[in-house]
Amino acid sequence: MSASGTKMWTFTLVFILTFSLPITLALEVKEPPTIGIVGGGIGGTSTAYFLRQLFGNDAKIDIFEKRHIGGRLATLTLGDHQFEAGGTLIHPKNMYMVNFTKLLGLEQIQVGGGTFGIFDGSSMRVTSSKYSLVTMAKLFWRYGMDIYNIDSWINEKLLSKFMRIYDIQRAGHAYTTVPDLIGAMDQAFVSYMKKSIKFVMKTAGFGDAFIDEMVMAALRTNYGQNTEVPGFVGAVCMAGVQPGLWAVKGGNKQVPQKLVTEAKAQVIQGTVMSVQLLQYQDKTYRVEYVDSEKKEQHKDYDIVIIATPLHDEMSEIDFEDFPSPIENFPQKYHKLTATFVEGTPNSKYYGIDNAEEVPTEILTCNDTILVNSQGKKEDVLGNPANVYKVFSNVPPSEENIKQMFTSKKDIRMFSMMAYPEYSTVGEELPPFVLHDSLYYLNGIEMAASAMEMSSIAGKNVALLAYNHWHGNLDKIDEPYLDPALEKDKTEL
Ligand SMILES: Cc1cc2nc3c(=O)[nH]c(=O)nc-3n(C[C@H](O)[C@H](O)[C@H](O)COP(=O)(O)OP(=O)(O)OC[C@H]3O[C@@H](n4cnc5c(N)ncnc54)[C@H](O)[C@@H]3O)c2cc1C
Ligand SMILES: *[C@@H]1O[C@H](CO)[C@@H](O)[C@H](O)[C@H]1NC(C)=O
Ligand SMILES: *[C@@H]1O[C@H](CO)[C@@H](O)[C@H](O)[C@H]1NC(C)=O
Repeated sequence: MSASGTKMWTFTLVFILTFSLPITLALEVKEPPTIGIVGGGIGGTSTAYFLRQLFGNDAKIDIFEKRHIGGRLATLTLGDHQFEAGGTLIHPKNMYMVNFTKLLGLEQIQVGGGTFGIFDGSSMRVTSSKYSLVTMAKLFWRYGMDIYNIDSWINEKLLSKFMRIYDIQRAGHAYTTVPDLIGAMDQAFVSYMKKSIKFVMKTAGFGDAFIDEMVMAALRTNYGQNTEVPGFVGAVCMAGVQPGLWAVKGGNKQVPQKLVTEAKAQVIQGTVMSVQLLQYQDKTYRVEYVDSEKKEQHKDYDIVIIATPLHDEMSEIDFEDFPSPIENFPQKYHKLTATFVEGTPNSKYYGIDNAEEVPTEILTCNDTILVNSQGKKEDVLGNPANVYKVFSNVPPSEENIKQMFTSKKDIRMFSMMAYPEYSTVGEELPPFVLHDSLYYLNGIEMAASAMEMSSIAGKNVALLAYNHWHGNLDKIDEPYLDPALEKDKTEL
């Protein structure tokens, strides 16, 4: 070996040593990150909880909230009672919500279970009876085998596949787009996002009467929309009419409230105005916000997570100094009005002669009807109350209310941007990753908006942040191989 060759070698060696040493060291003692979460709903607070589990005690987690922790999980007081004003029903197989409730020392109460009927604009198409056998006979008479097949269809074709997400996430896998996350549950779900629920259920063998009445009624009460919505959200909605639905005793908002404490997150009361990409500084992002005293403030973070919808009419957040602009997403949100009335409903409004026969829950199956649904509600403790919750897509007029109720003691009305306006015409769905270390949760709502969906997105984003931070690229956008299934394969 020539002298110059040796020199070259020494140089290379020194080069490798000097330059790789800090990198190796950095890998070993990589400081836990500082994380800012914008939005304290179930999405933001479940993300905080999952981040704490993944990153351990030393990570710093802040949650910015402009109003109340809980967001669309909120209660309202009428008379002596409190009622769920936003997200209410939880499915017994929603494992994150089930486990949070247990972990946080909260209790479940059963909801629903009264009688129901479907109103078509002039009369009741079908009404259930206090006696379940009579109800089954009536429903069988009207819908045939569909009424039996719906449960097995939901359980076998949907829920059992949906629940794969828990194994996938337990194994640490994360996805950068909504279709990839949904597709990891079952590839068929991706195609369900592009076809209407009407088409999906027709293909599965369900009849027109069942789709136009039962499925339509479920969509109107749960999303204020119709059977043209995509099959995936339609399916989530149909799971919402299965038995065993529950809510958290005392109010669902306690879950996000207690998750904050469990996650040891700090709540910063304030409205986030912008997220700025910092260049040449040790933190990546600057979050600028207006605090509760209307003062402009800022804090810097390694990782930022947006846990509130980025859509016109809903978001005031600007993204500054990014190489390519980050703008609001085009999909519209659905405006919904909830009217709470303490009083007596007018049975005639629904074509019912005998006031005694008004079902607990009145569903409707025609887009032209003002009322999406009207239900007699128990309070958040499960106590009976003389209070009715009416959902409508436009606020009812004073005259409407007069027709709907023969007497009223108290009334409370509020309108909100409730969930997306669902459409099958394939707009690009928002991604989970907006930029390096900048994540977005609420794109999941374009697949389906529900508490469990937000929690699943929360876990996905927490895993993305963790896997990116530690360079676990084998756990990002990679197919999850179920160990049980793999074992079967090798044994074959
Ligand atoms: C009427 C209604 C009924 C529903 N029924 C059900 C149901 O029965 N079952 C079910 O599972 N789901 C239901 N849902 C859906 C469910 O409530 C939502 O999917 C879920 O609560 C969304 O949670 P999130 O955390 O993603 O968003 P949000 O709860 O909207 O949280 C976002 C938070 O961010 C805050 N925020 C926004 N911008 C800023 C800013 N610039 N700075 C600081 N903070 C900000 C907001 O104040 C809010 O608290 C219902 C929703 C509605 C509206
Ligand atoms: C829920 O809790 C049970 C019991 O602690 C646990 O076995 C299960 O894995 C949890 N489920 C999820 C989805 O985390
Ligand atoms: C809905 O009601 C309107 C007005 O009563 C009627 O013209 C229309 O046919 C109904 N549509 C369905 C699907 O029943």
